[in-house]
Amino acid sequence: MTPDRALTAHELLTFYLEAGVDCALMDEPVNRISDETTAPRGQPQSSPVRTTPAVLPARAEAAPAPEVAIQSAREAARTAPSLEVLRAMLERFDGCALKSTATRLVFADGNPLARIMFVGEAPGREEDIEGLPFVGRSGQLLNRMMAAIGLDRTKAYIANVIPWRPPGNRTPTPQETQICLPFIQRQIELVNPDVLVTLGNPSTQTLLSTREGIMKTRGRWFDYDTGTRRIKAMATFHPAYLLRSPSYKRLAWEDLRAISKALA
Ligand code: URA
Repeated sequence: MTPDRALTAHELLTFYLEAGVDCALMDEPVNRISDETTAPRGQPQSSPVRTTPAVLPARAEAAPAPEVAIQSAREAARTAPSLEVLRAMLERFDGCALKSTATRLVFADGNPLARIMFVGEAPGREEDIEGLPFVGRSGQLLNRMMAAIGLDRTKAYIANVIPWRPPGNRTPTPQETQICLPFIQRQIELVNPDVLVTLGNPSTQTLLSTREGIMKTRGRWFDYDTGTRRIKAMATFHPAYLLRSPSYKRLAWEDLRAISKALA
């Protein structure tokens, strides 16, 4: 519908924010953590608008073709002997373009020795700033879901299929997912949990190799082959979905009880 009056700048920005447009992208990535405004410290600025950093970052190398990146991700990930090496490998990996728009790598949180591992889709804005998965609103709900079955981040390990935030929280492309897949698979193998919990549709479909939707997959036990052994895997609703559709919390609670029973 066309508005019958011009929107104020504030209304327009609010509209963008609600639509998920919360950052402006340029050809070159901008480090917003270390980025300085041009006005010298202590001097008043005429405008709060940030200007281009005095020193532009070197132009990024063009990302390799997806099939090349997928192949190099596969070859690299399987050689990582530990989570620390895998993390360092991802820090250096340039095969996924999401790295250039994200602020930082979001590798994992929690206990690498835990018997249970939760895997979401990709970091959001707060996660991108803090470098930890599930720290925003959906992370707070995930904490409450874990607490309901006696878990917290000292007893669980948490990661995402994609370790870099897609700009504006857009859905990762199938190529981006395939490029990141060998790394999360190796991460699961190295953590070696007894129970894997996929949060939401994208994580479930990617890791459990199913095309069924979350309404069908949730609450069911799957076999997950880590590469060294078979473990139990369960899909449940993503906490962000539960925030939007709280009536599904009852079903999520059933899933959590089944998960708790499997851990007992
Ligand atoms: N949603 C996800 O899938 N992962 C996060 O880390 C945060 C929100």
